[in-house]
Amino acid sequence: MCGIVGYTGTNQASPFLLKGLQTLEYRGYDSAGLEVLSPDGALHGVKYAGRVSALVERCKVANPVGTSGIAHTRWATHGAPNDKNAHPHRDCSERIAVTHNGIIENFRELKAQLMAAGHEFTSETDTEVIAHLVEDAWKGPRKGDLVAALRNACSRLKGSWAIACICADAPGQIAVARNGSPLVVASTADGAYAASDVMPLASITSHVIQLANSQFALLESNGTITVYDETGDMVRDPSTIDIDWDASAATLGGHADFMEKEIAEQPEAIERLLQGRLGEDGIRLDELRLARDELASIDRVFLIACGTSSHVCQIARTMIESWAKVPATWAYASEFNYEPEVLVTPNTLCVIVTQSGETADTLAAARRMKALGCHVFAVTNVLGSTAAREADGVLYVQAGPEVCVASTKAYTAQLVACALLALVLARANGTMDQNGVARHYHDLSLLPDAIREVFRRSWQDKQASALFRRSSSSLYLGRGVNATTALEGALKIKEISYLHAEGYPAGEMKHGPIALIEQGFPVVAIVPADRWHDKTVSNIQECIARGAHVIAVATDGDEGVASQVEHVLWIPPLPDELLVPVVAIVHLQILARFVALARGRDVDKPRNLAKSVTVE
Ligand code: G6P
Repeated sequence: MCGIVGYTGTNQASPFLLKGLQTLEYRGYDSAGLEVLSPDGALHGVKYAGRVSALVERCKVANPVGTSGIAHTRWATHGAPNDKNAHPHRDCSERIAVTHNGIIENFRELKAQLMAAGHEFTSETDTEVIAHLVEDAWKGPRKGDLVAALRNACSRLKGSWAIACICADAPGQIAVARNGSPLVVASTADGAYAASDVMPLASITSHVIQLANSQFALLESNGTITVYDETGDMVRDPSTIDIDWDASAATLGGHADFMEKEIAEQPEAIERLLQGRLGEDGIRLDELRLARDELASIDRVFLIACGTSSHVCQIARTMIESWAKVPATWAYASEFNYEPEVLVTPNTLCVIVTQSGETADTLAAARRMKALGCHVFAVTNVLGSTAAREADGVLYVQAGPEVCVASTKAYTAQLVACALLALVLARANGTMDQNGVARHYHDLSLLPDAIREVFRRSWQDKQASALFRRSSSSLYLGRGVNATTALEGALKIKEISYLHAEGYPAGEMKHGPIALIEQGFPVVAIVPADRWHDKTVSNIQECIARGAHVIAVATDGDEGVASQVEHVLWIPPLPDELLVPVVAIVHLQILARFVALARGRDVDKPRNLAKSVTVE
């Protein structure tokens, strides 16, 4: 949530700042702005409510010139998304500017104190207090030390932050701070850079410094970066990561939008993840960092996540219980964190699933589980993310950068990653022999081609999308693991088309949602050839009897279902019913995209959402 970039060096700052903001726009796009230190020694700010593309146009006219600057793309928390609340924010002297990602929990109290002391505020944001605190500190005994001023300001803050601060009286310098929200910095021959994640830096360098919580850094125009801890001592060996993402992976590459591109990338992502995983005795998952006997003694698995990743957990729970016979449970991180009691055994494994690795609630849940003594394993897509760093083991799903706010390729890759985990547990505790593991691995290896087959059938999704033309609501139904597919399919259509959709276990429908159905009401039923098939068919009939128009996701050859419904989204047969969600959801992703495009929506940047939710 909110993206920050900064640059000080020998080049003009605004080209990198604007390009960086475009790369980070998935983090929020309510408003965007930048501050550049002009050659005349004053700050030159340009900021507006709206998308980064609007800022780019404004900058063509405003032409901010200067070789040091900071910039921000916002997902509003405090204060409406308007021009005056857009970052960066200045102090009273207009010589200091800050951008911030996070929430300053005590900002009301600080604002009152600062106002009483004569500071004048121009926005409703929590961020602006930071600019005024730095202003006070800058006037203090260590005048001239920007990082000390920022450290002083941060010592009064409660909450979470990644901050970049520039001062007209400290030319060629940017001070940054991190506590809770992500921030990376990098140095090249052209200067020093800061960004909320590695993506804006991928085309510039392959080596970045990842600031830890409570660390600060001073970026200087000659490329020097000095990292400090909260006491002001220099950190000699800050944590670094090597970026192995090709910068072109975050470009459209001929696709109409990132959602289309990322849907299309699913087969290759799964192939990458599976490659070389089948060992002579089970699945190779050294990333777990648990010895065989430790794996064998795991007696409970706790899966925790938010949003789409929580749907991964729901299906993973079934895989783990079915294959490894280990009791597994899942929770939304935002709920889990406030559970009065968490019952864990000494051998409980906690699995957090998080595409970004930065979701605040999921990180808090992982910390709680760690404090309870659990081994925490992260399934994530983002290299060097906070989840990856804080967990005891990490499995990168290697789906490549996911830019579209609605998750697609990370979802299916995370499902496959959890299937691998379930097989590891099964082999370690002896509930599955090597032949069983090899058979399941073979079943997993069939998924990429099954998804490619769905792509060849995307005309079916296009045709079916017409059913949503005259409706403002819909119902998604499924049973077993595909009750979760129904939830995920409904979430996809809600996120990007703004149509209401209710995802529900098909058998529960008659306890409430059936009342929604009227003539022509769209119902999407996931009814593959599995143990739940006939029961779901009965539910489809109940819907049709009340006037629903049904779209069925069904297995090739199921003429019985085809004869009853308006549209069929066909999926090829799969040997394992627990893997069907990986393929069925692809139809629902494509369907949601067609529905959203027909409504003229921006599928990559749906309103009110952000891809990385770094606040509670
Ligand atoms: C946001 C995104 C969702 C994502 C969720 C959890 O709501 O818009 O697409 O599923 O956060 O994110 P995570 O990165 O933890 O998987």
